[in-house]
Amino acid sequence: MIKSLQNQLVVALGLLVTVIGIVQGVSSYQLSKTGMSALLDMRLEQVAARLRDGLADSLPKNPARGTQDDRDVVAVVWKPDERLPFRTTDPSLHFSRDEKPGFSGVEVNGEHWRIFTRQEPTMTILVAQRSSVRHELTTEAATLTLWPIAVLVPLVWIAVVLVVRRSLRQLKRLGAEVQAIDMGHLQPLPTIGVPAEIAPFVHSINTMIERLAKAIEKERKFIADAAHELRTPLTALQLQADNLAPHIVAGNQERFQELRRGIARSGGLITQLLRLARADAPMEGAPLARVDLAEVVTGAVADVLPLAIARGLDIGAEEMVSAHVRAVETDIGMAVKNLVSNAVRYTPDGGTIDLRMRRDGEMAWVDVIDTGPGIDEALLPRVFDRFFRANPDIEGSGLGLSIVKAIAARYGGDVTLRNRGDGGSGIVASIGFPVEKVDKNVAAAATAPA
Ligand SMILES: Nc1ncnc2c1ncn2[C@@H]1O[C@H](COP(=O)(O)OP(=O)(O)OP(=O)(O)O)[C@@H](O)[C@H]1O
Ligand SMILES: [Mg+2]
Repeated sequence: MIKSLQNQLVVALGLLVTVIGIVQGVSSYQLSKTGMSALLDMRLEQVAARLRDGLADSLPKNPARGTQDDRDVVAVVWKPDERLPFRTTDPSLHFSRDEKPGFSGVEVNGEHWRIFTRQEPTMTILVAQRSSVRHELTTEAATLTLWPIAVLVPLVWIAVVLVVRRSLRQLKRLGAEVQAIDMGHLQPLPTIGVPAEIAPFVHSINTMIERLAKAIEKERKFIADAAHELRTPLTALQLQADNLAPHIVAGNQERFQELRRGIARSGGLITQLLRLARADAPMEGAPLARVDLAEVVTGAVADVLPLAIARGLDIGAEEMVSAHVRAVETDIGMAVKNLVSNAVRYTPDGGTIDLRMRRDGEMAWVDVIDTGPGIDEALLPRVFDRFFRANPDIEGSGLGLSIVKAIAARYGGDVTLRNRGDGGSGIVASIGFPVEKVDKNVAAAATAPA
């Protein structure tokens, strides 16, 4: 079954053209054959007329046998009272003088002939032509009429393919745009220049996108509000616990500390939820700055350095490149920091964490490479899911990478996580942002001496 609309149109139109071509070819072949036959008949009639008008007398009396070309017409003239023909262009052929007047077909010397007989009071005239020669001539002429069709049909096929492709190009472009729609990119489809047949379709998709965006925004707001509301009682709870601490008897200390850790964990979860809701929020009106990515990287390393030293982790940034991103500075900082803190959290004591920067066309990337256990390949596709944790033994809310992904999407960037392919275990977490396009005039003015 052909599923592509383009193929369906091309095949349908192409077949239609071919059928028209065949019908046209067959009919013009037949018509030209009939026409040619009529012309040849007319020639026989004309020759007979000329013979009657005196040409018979000027024919040679005894033509040498076999001197006549096969393709020529044969003429025989009889006078009323003579048995033998008065004149014949080929004496080896014995036609009967009693054929009925007009056109008919006879068999002479094993060959089929088309003859025209004319009975005059003074003479009987017979003009004949070999049927095989007539067939040859008519077929030749009819075949010539097929040439234009034979050339035109393939040309029309090519034209059909080109025209259909051209008409469907817009549909393909729309398809690509529909495919690019996801939670982080809910832009309506462009309606300018869309063909009238597709416009209602685009309009319904846009209405759906609008509804979807509203629903998502509602959900996001609910999460943000819920997290915000939960924060106040939790802070109060934490204060109460702090106040209670000196009064807890020694025997209950352990259970009390467990309670405080639980409160702290809940606090961490609420903070991450709030961050995710903020990262998912539309960016309307947020002040954008020119963020130096290298500075963000060194800042993230500095932040975790005390913890890393305490755990004997060797952390360092190398291969820095100069790249700037137009963004809210805290967003970029949080994204890189989340990747670095994952590396610190999941790499066992004494491991190594390297941060590297690289440029790839319009994108600037930060790679965070650790020597931890890595992630099971089967679980890897799920690490960006909310609340997903590949290693439940180590504490975490499972929201860090979702936050990173939301931030990357918000600036047209991307984030990837893969196991190191160089023999050792560990993760390569990479985040890339499109670098800021610097207006050359502005840059020149900025560097010009005052
Ligand atoms: N560098 C890493 N090495 C090994 N596992 C990792 C690494 N980074 C992430 N993971 C796995 O991916 C899961 C999801 O990470 P994510 O950052 O989203 O959540 P989290 O670290 O558990 O919690 P949060 O970051 O919200 O405090 C983690 O639970 C962990 O199992
Ligand atoms: Mg994390």
